[in-house]
Amino acid sequence: MSVDDDLDPVATTARLTAAMRAHESARPDRLFVDPYAEPLAGEQGMAMLAHPDVAEAGSAITIRTPWIDERITAAVRAGVDQVVLVAAGMDTRAWRLESLAGTTLWELDRPELLALKGRLLDAEPIATRTALPVDLTGDWPAALRAAGHDPDRPTVWLAEGLLQYLPEPDVGRLLDTITAKSAPGSHLVIDLLGAALLAAMSGTPMLQRFAEQGMPWVFGTDDPDGLLASRGWSPTTVHFRDAAAAVGRPSPSGTEGPDGYLVSATR
Ligand SMILES: C[S@@+](CC[C@H](N)C(=O)[O-])C[C@H]1O[C@@H](n2cnc3c(N)ncnc32)[C@H](O)[C@@H]1O
Repeated sequence: MSVDDDLDPVATTARLTAAMRAHESARPDRLFVDPYAEPLAGEQGMAMLAHPDVAEAGSAITIRTPWIDERITAAVRAGVDQVVLVAAGMDTRAWRLESLAGTTLWELDRPELLALKGRLLDAEPIATRTALPVDLTGDWPAALRAAGHDPDRPTVWLAEGLLQYLPEPDVGRLLDTITAKSAPGSHLVIDLLGAALLAAMSGTPMLQRFAEQGMPWVFGTDDPDGLLASRGWSPTTVHFRDAAAAVGRPSPSGTEGPDGYLVSATR
């Protein structure tokens, strides 16, 4: 059995998103450079991306990456020095964002994913980075606390590419837990599928393929502000197609109709 075979199906999607970042990094008109994405994607991620039903999703990762980089950088510049990447996958912000110098950053993900990442990425991070193997449906806040996170000081949280895989009650529980550990001055950044977009995409070859491979998309909402405002956050929401237009790229959701969202919130 290869190391790749140990990954849970949803964890393999972290290799796919890394492949999408590697693909973008190689473009002459690239929006960002992730120098570590290719080895983290590996043959497995590159093969997933090469499938014609999946390749079109790459533009979503391309668009959200610099948008999220900017939000995290802004939060750090506002004085927040604790960063938690919830379901970090093959995220390399701890290594590639100069703005994270002086921050303490925790990467939460499944043990086997973080072990694989540790084997594939042999470089010194810019942030003080801790890999924290957890099950996000378990008592991960206790593990985070034991690893040095201080819930009485502000944190910038990122949950990227995660919520569409979680049933609605798990999304609510996760957001409640993050909120409970967020001191005033904290920031939360998430990406969301619209419920109408999810419905419109159901039955497409890409979603069928994801479902067959054990990683179905199950959650979307067209009330992103409500999802966070009801928990005491002040959200700023951007339509995915507006974020795409801002960087001069086509949106995977087209120019009209159902869309997805990028949300940045403060508390
Ligand atoms: C699509 S990947 C996103 C990774 C990264 N945030 C990105 O955007 O590239 C989803 C990640 O969620 C993680 N994940 C899903 N459910 C989880 C759980 N219950 N506990 C820990 N990690 C989980 C997977 O292991 C995977 O790394």
